[in-house]
Amino acid sequence: MEKIISASILNSDFKNLENEIIRSDKAGCKWLHFDVMDGHFVPNISFGYHVLKCIKDVSSQLKDVHLMISHPKQYVKNFVDSGADLITFHLEAMKDVNEVVELIEYIKSLKCKVGISIKPNTSVNLLVPFLKMLDLVLIMSVEPGFGGQLFNEACLPKIEYLDNYRKENKCRYLIEVDGGINFLTAPLVIEKGVDVLVCGSYLFNSDDMEASVNSLLEK
Ligand code: DX5
Ligand code: ZN
Repeated sequence: MEKIISASILNSDFKNLENEIIRSDKAGCKWLHFDVMDGHFVPNISFGYHVLKCIKDVSSQLKDVHLMISHPKQYVKNFVDSGADLITFHLEAMKDVNEVVELIEYIKSLKCKVGISIKPNTSVNLLVPFLKMLDLVLIMSVEPGFGGQLFNEACLPKIEYLDNYRKENKCRYLIEVDGGINFLTAPLVIEKGVDVLVCGSYLFNSDDMEASVNSLLEK
């Protein structure tokens, strides 16, 4: 399957957000990654669903919403109504298995695709009860909260585990990785089986985004 680049707008130039999104679309990014932060689940505040609503028609890229927030269920419908195609919440924001299953089913009831994300220090085994229900698993290769951080290689065995698990158990979830992705780290995660690469600063700091996107996908 062709690898997907999901451009994270967190570190883009918000003064020119429309142009930045068009730039990522023209550069070959098929998904647009929205890092939603509440200043509570992570020590940073980013943007909410109004921003998504304003820009959802700027491009046809899949709107890949990453909720780094506490109490995600409270906000899911706002994001779906604002144009989200896929909503990923954090396992660490949930209190128990039942709450996780309930939120997965709720997001699906809104006809939206659903993913779960785990931080670098969270065991991938905790995802097993939910894997058959998911459209996507997001493995963080940085501590969530900020763009421009260094890649944490602890994500690699998790990606490999998830790739093997889905082959052995006929699961259909995509594997996405997020944080510190550039031309050096992209081959490492692709080799382990990742399908979607979230990339922020490496792309939006680039003078030639298309060349940067291509550098992520070169064999
Ligand atoms: C961090 C966000 C990432 C981040 C990626 O919490 O989830 O999406 O923006 O940014 P880079 O690619 O700059 O590490
Ligand atoms: Zn993200």
